[in-house]
Amino acid sequence: MALKVFKLIAEEAYRQKYGLEMIPSENYVSENVLKALGSILTNKYSEGFPGRRYYGGNEVIDKIENYAVDLAKKLFGVPVAFVQSYSGSPANMAVTMAVCEPKDVVMGLALSSGGHLTHGAHLNFSSIFYKAINYTVGDDWKIDFEGLEKLATKHKPKMIWVGTTAYPFKLDYKKFRAIADKVGAVLVADCSHITGLIIGGVHPSPVPFVDIIMTTTHKTLRGPRGAMILVTDRGLKKDPEIKGKIERAIIPGIQGGPHNHQTAAIAVSLGEALKPSFKKYAVQVAKNAAVLAKELGTVSETHLILLSLTKYGYGMGYQAQFALEAAGITVNKNTIPGEPASPFYPSGIRLGTPALTTRGMKEKDMIKIAGWIKRALEEIRGLDLPKEQDKRKDFIKEVKVNLSKNKNLEQIRKEIEQFTGRFPVPGIK
Ligand SMILES: Cc1ncc(COP(=O)(O)O)c(C=O)c1O
Repeated sequence: MALKVFKLIAEEAYRQKYGLEMIPSENYVSENVLKALGSILTNKYSEGFPGRRYYGGNEVIDKIENYAVDLAKKLFGVPVAFVQSYSGSPANMAVTMAVCEPKDVVMGLALSSGGHLTHGAHLNFSSIFYKAINYTVGDDWKIDFEGLEKLATKHKPKMIWVGTTAYPFKLDYKKFRAIADKVGAVLVADCSHITGLIIGGVHPSPVPFVDIIMTTTHKTLRGPRGAMILVTDRGLKKDPEIKGKIERAIIPGIQGGPHNHQTAAIAVSLGEALKPSFKKYAVQVAKNAAVLAKELGTVSETHLILLSLTKYGYGMGYQAQFALEAAGITVNKNTIPGEPASPFYPSGIRLGTPALTTRGMKEKDMIKIAGWIKRALEEIRGLDLPKEQDKRKDFIKEVKVNLSKNKNLEQIRKEIEQFTGRFPVPGIK
């Protein structure tokens, strides 16, 4: 039984090593992070917080969690940190529960503008249990602050999210703060995507401007899957009770026992992020993204590129994702602002450089990779999404099969396999 799983892990290791992992929310963790994740710490139950557990035998676990919390506080320069959230979505739920009562107004960037599900998307807890109001980006794909201010003035939100999941520009936290202050809202940054860049100094920090920060630990920060909730000095001054409110939201509000192996791995990754080498890494992530974006005919101020494929045809996101996958390049289809096709069959792809940069790739490699991407995208010309909705599902299925047998894409895959074999991946031989 275990053999079957290990065989599949080996298969996935091959894919991770010999392909180009370009999903911007992914990364390769270090061997030490892997070691902590695979440790015996997973055996222990520790509901509660250090010194206040529901179970015995937590002396060592307390030390581990306290260490992780101390490193988080040090890395961000904040007075309060939590490291128990299972992942970003439950952490955002905990923040929302701590700040808001059910039915309170919560504002966040629309999913279709590059926001996250948990910031007020349809069918998500954030719009089921709260009154979600979404602000958007403008025609220039940048946050429409005028529209945001109008909505905030009208709806008087209890909380405003500033955070993105498919947005290639820097965020102006000061402008968000001014609007939050005008309407008396709590301002929360979800910097899951850009935490590594903030640590590296290549993206402005939200710490001076926001009250609370949520970040996943597994994206540019390069830790295990998980999340942290941080309260800034400003946030603590505004609400001295906030620490207890967040604690109660995490447990008993949402979660049971924390994943101690994950907490330990977060501590390892925070230690790594405190080193000067991490700053160098983050700077290179941004440099690589800027070069890659330029080569692809667009811009990126972060680690991420949102590429419109309208010049290749109508509704080309799926087709591009499949063509690139057949060539050994992993990206995801994505809507573009003002989506001309459909949210389900979008017109763009989202890609990024954090994982490639961890492998040691630099600007010259990005130029090569852009060449492969452009060559692969040539193969989707003429494969426009049918205008008739009932034909789309079968069409996309057929496109996937055909692209997986495409000889030009197979050739690109061979070239990429040769190229990637030279760049090590931690934990993969
Ligand atoms: C901005 C942002 N917030 C929250 C999350 C949710 O994190 P998770 O997938 O760990 O629940 C994501 C993940 O995509 C994200 O991009």
